[in-house]
Amino acid sequence: MALVAERMAGIGSDIRGKNFWAALDLEKQGQKVLKLNTGNPAAFGFKMPESVREALIANLDRSVGYSDVRGMIDARQAIFDYHKAKGIEDFDIDDIFIGNGVSEIASMIATALFDKGEEVLVPSPCYSLWTNEIILSDAKPVYYKCDESNHWNPDVEHIKSLITPKTKAILLINPNNPTGVLYSNDVLLEIAEIARQNNMMILSDEIYDRLVFDGKEHTTMAKLAPDLTILTMNGLSKSHVLCGFRCGWMVISGPEAARKEINEALLKVASIRLGANSIMQTIIPAALADTEYPNSMIQPGGRLYEQRKATCEELDKIPGVSYVKNDGAMYIFPKIDKGAEQIANDKQFAYDLLMDKHVLIVPGSGFKWDAPDHFRIVMLPEAEILRDAVRKMGDFITKNIK
Ligand SMILES: Cc1ncc(COP(=O)(O)O)c(C=O)c1O
Repeated sequence: MALVAERMAGIGSDIRGKNFWAALDLEKQGQKVLKLNTGNPAAFGFKMPESVREALIANLDRSVGYSDVRGMIDARQAIFDYHKAKGIEDFDIDDIFIGNGVSEIASMIATALFDKGEEVLVPSPCYSLWTNEIILSDAKPVYYKCDESNHWNPDVEHIKSLITPKTKAILLINPNNPTGVLYSNDVLLEIAEIARQNNMMILSDEIYDRLVFDGKEHTTMAKLAPDLTILTMNGLSKSHVLCGFRCGWMVISGPEAARKEINEALLKVASIRLGANSIMQTIIPAALADTEYPNSMIQPGGRLYEQRKATCEELDKIPGVSYVKNDGAMYIFPKIDKGAEQIANDKQFAYDLLMDKHVLIVPGSGFKWDAPDHFRIVMLPEAEILRDAVRKMGDFITKNIK
């Protein structure tokens, strides 16, 4: 009998994969490495909002015990109000589950809802959390293309072509990781119609919804399709730079009977782990009330805004590299135009870049992108550091790709 489960063969993340360990080895040897592999703002000097610090101190004594398995009631009330204001209609406060990050929520969803062999449509490129959780539940991720020539929107025709009797759900990540784009309402409505006609559930990971630039507005999927069963995910890791707090949640919305069934299954899973970390839940009302904090990062003069500007200005100077300007989040997913012809293995490409320039990026294959011609830049360092890093990338690409 094998020591580890067979399914582990399909599990992994290039965000913390071999190149990441190679970067740590370089650091152990005393080299300075700029690690652009994770969207972890605190690692780049982003500070906790004052509103959160105050709430933490005020609530310390309240967080000693286990909480309600779904989550503390005042935290769920704040989450309820937030999603109501965004236009989600059919859900109750008990349709909210708070977890240790959207990561734990994804695991709970996969455990409670997916059976062996069922298919879940996931975007390519896709943040690896979801693929891994689907595989861990013995279900099957089926990748639909996002179309770079259409602002990285999901390719609706491709989605239609992938549907089988086993298709259970479709995952959206909007704003997206790794492309950073915001999907158009027209495309969202088309996807809703496909879900409606094929009796599919929608999972909508909207963790970057408060980080959208240029006055653009994020539309929550559940507002566009109140008649469908939709699980909307969100959290505080990004908007309030609290990755280490592990604070995420989901909202189940849609027809009452389906909601009730899903809720009961999720409650069983939530009960097994007794509840989410209490202390992070106590700061949710204060954080969601603090809209100024995320807004300050995305306005001109704000760090995320200026860092995106610096990255794009430097990318513009690299011949043979193109990109779709991101609308939000903290990522951009440039294309090396001749990459598909010249890069046999994009993980090796990222490794060589790391060794040559001491800059760590995650190649497209780390996001289930099937051609070796893209890579993701995490735009979290200060603008000048990013400028220097992108220049180094340009230098490396110009030297190696003709
Ligand atoms: C799209 C997306 N969903 C979920 C997560 C994980 O969030 P959390 O820190 O809440 O587990 C990330 C983290 O980068 C992400 O990019």
